[in-house]
Amino acid sequence: MHVGRWMTTGRAFVDEAHRSQRRVVVRTPAKINLFLAVRGTRADGYHELVSVMQSTSLHDELSAAVSGPPGRDRHPAARRHMRLRLHVDEDAGVPTGEDNLVTRAALVLGRRLGTLDSSHWDKPVTDDSAVTCLSLTKRIPVAGGMAGGSTDAAAALVALNRLWEGRLDAEELRTLAAELGSDVPFCVVGGTALATGRGTRLVRVLCRGVFYWVIGRSGDELSTAAVYRSWDEVCRPSTVEPDAVLAALSAGDAEALGGALSNDLQAAAFALRPGLGRKRSAMLAAGALGSVLSGSGPTLLGLARDAADAQRLAAAVRSQFTDVHVATSPAGGPEVMR
Ligand code: C5P
Repeated sequence: MHVGRWMTTGRAFVDEAHRSQRRVVVRTPAKINLFLAVRGTRADGYHELVSVMQSTSLHDELSAAVSGPPGRDRHPAARRHMRLRLHVDEDAGVPTGEDNLVTRAALVLGRRLGTLDSSHWDKPVTDDSAVTCLSLTKRIPVAGGMAGGSTDAAAALVALNRLWEGRLDAEELRTLAAELGSDVPFCVVGGTALATGRGTRLVRVLCRGVFYWVIGRSGDELSTAAVYRSWDEVCRPSTVEPDAVLAALSAGDAEALGGALSNDLQAAAFALRPGLGRKRSAMLAAGALGSVLSGSGPTLLGLARDAADAQRLAAAVRSQFTDVHVATSPAGGPEVMR
């Protein structure tokens, strides 16, 4: 995978002046779980969930451009030989090759549309080849339990469906999204949703008002799979229902939401990283209306009363975390900027 500079052919730079170019830029939000109950293990090895998910103002940005000799980037035969490149800042801490969910999303969509033959995606770019260049700007904590990789994959589906003139509707995109990961279908839709099954069956949820969050990222790495394995060892299926969270969202009541935040993966993550429990206590001691692990962690959320309270809370807990962000929710799904 070519990282950092575009369009090398191996022998010379492709002359961009003689190639047409179209570009789409998508802003794509981080997800938080306001409620996450694990009902048990499933026959397919995943866990059966009931979860309330919400998009936040914290976002990544994905730029996607197709370029090629004029006319050829739209020609079906040329498209089957489309090259694909992904650029991510080297210090972003995410994989740049086929392991990146953005690349996987592009390959899944490309195969579905017949746009991209996966045997060509990493071949050198020549003067007569069409190429899709994706460039990812990361702001969402990496591997933090905020669906950063999943939301980037959702952005790739939305951007490339437009750029490659795929015309897949939202339901078709959600079906492809479920192949990429349990959180990706929600990330395609955004907003506020109740998720069941693996987390991929979604219904919209009413949310009034704006909520203010302090998001504390810590260095304690935690893989989602490891947290679910820990849940298998230390937890039992729960019967807790999301009613209190849904009522608080519909009333726009931050205080009630703070008291109702709940995540069954929290005990499993704290068993692996006891320091996270102390960070959550610090968030509550500093006056958060509620505090909960975000997804499978290790990021912790603190709910504030309003914008000023969020700034105060962020300053009070900053020393506990590697990074602290202030964000609002809800937000929409991936948004095409231009
Ligand atoms: O679906 P995704 O690839 O994001 O899931 C990552 C890992 O999290 C899975 O391999 C699985 O171990 C765990 N997981 C689970 N049950 C879910 C979602 C994820 O066990 N509903």
